[in-house]
Amino acid sequence: MTSDLSIIIPTYNEKNNIAPLIQSLRSALEDVEWEVVFVDDDSPDGTSKLLRDYALKDNRVRVIQRLGRRGLASACIEGVLSSSSPYICIMDADLQHDEGLLNQMLDSLRNEDLDLVIGSRYTDQGNADAMPYYRKRLSEAANWFSNRMFGVNITDPMSGYFMFTRHYFESVQYKLSGRGFKILLDMLISSHQPVRFKELPYVMRQRQHGESKLNFLVIWDFLIQIINRVLGKFVPYRFLSFVTVGFSGLVIHMFVLWLLHAQYHGDFTYAQSVATFIAMTSNYILNNIFTYHDARKKNKALWSGLFKFYLVCLLGAVLNVALASYLNDRNIIWIIAGISGAMAGAVWNFTISNIFVWTIYKKTNSQE
Ligand code: GDD
Ligand code: MN
Repeated sequence: MTSDLSIIIPTYNEKNNIAPLIQSLRSALEDVEWEVVFVDDDSPDGTSKLLRDYALKDNRVRVIQRLGRRGLASACIEGVLSSSSPYICIMDADLQHDEGLLNQMLDSLRNEDLDLVIGSRYTDQGNADAMPYYRKRLSEAANWFSNRMFGVNITDPMSGYFMFTRHYFESVQYKLSGRGFKILLDMLISSHQPVRFKELPYVMRQRQHGESKLNFLVIWDFLIQIINRVLGKFVPYRFLSFVTVGFSGLVIHMFVLWLLHAQYHGDFTYAQSVATFIAMTSNYILNNIFTYHDARKKNKALWSGLFKFYLVCLLGAVLNVALASYLNDRNIIWIIAGISGAMAGAVWNFTISNIFVWTIYKKTNSQE
């Protein structure tokens, strides 16, 4: 059986949505040759197993179970690459996306000269009221950002519901970052030619079962990626995150110093030492959550990592001060000397943390 339409659905802990979802696809797509590819990141709630039970009975249902991996965008990409239909749709598993739109989207792609059809919550008739207040504001901010930064002129570039031709996907597939949630935006900005698209309004429904996985980490990732795009590929993504965390450490440092020294009149050296210590600890925790979320340390490794991080930062500080003093002695203006020292320290801390604390190179190169 060949299918005309492959629907790719990333899942993580969506067990209770599967039955109604498959049912809704079956009734919505009666006149279409379709298949659905679920890409499940080994959900602890057993979503993969349940999906396989469906796949055994209905050969339009397929499952890719990924082990030790996470990520909405990368799941979608792998799902698309595992399919062969000329038309592909990406949608959420949580029934928030109106399956009634599928036929309209498909008709548009077939009959009009289009690469992409986007389900939009923000056209005149679309509606995102199902989202909590802060999520709506956040989504609007992300839209505004994307439109300004990338000249993407659409109402809902953060939509998670869209259909496209395989031809179009093939033209962008090598450029996709596969990070985070914003796969549509990624596809749009990866295109050489202007994308021929159309938006169709839909009313987003409430999630009935399970919960959203869009958390602060996802938002952080999005912001860092924007900075990354602006600075170009020269500055690695992880370094940006590391430096941003470093700035937060500076703020914390100054706050503690102010508190202990200026407010409580503590000895300066004592206050500065405590501030350094707290800032380093905070940097470690934040880096562990954000910068190295794919290599996150837990339990015992969390503590040994902390001590390694102290050591790395200590040496980084020595390097920083040594270089800055050297430049200062050579009559380089103090501000340049200071910045050079700080930058050298940051690069050192980052490089050695990669190798020694979070050992990311070892992780990606070995087969473990
Ligand atoms: N395989 C896999 N791995 N799937 C995931 C992961 C993951 O790490 N994280 C989330 N998903 C799946 C969910 O199970 C769901 O089917 C779909 O991706 C969307 O995730 P939600 O957690 O429901 O996201 P949301 O509803 O808060 O966000 C939606 O709106 C955003 C814009 O506001 C999504 O449609 C996003 O794509 C969209 O950007
Ligand atoms: Mn959702």
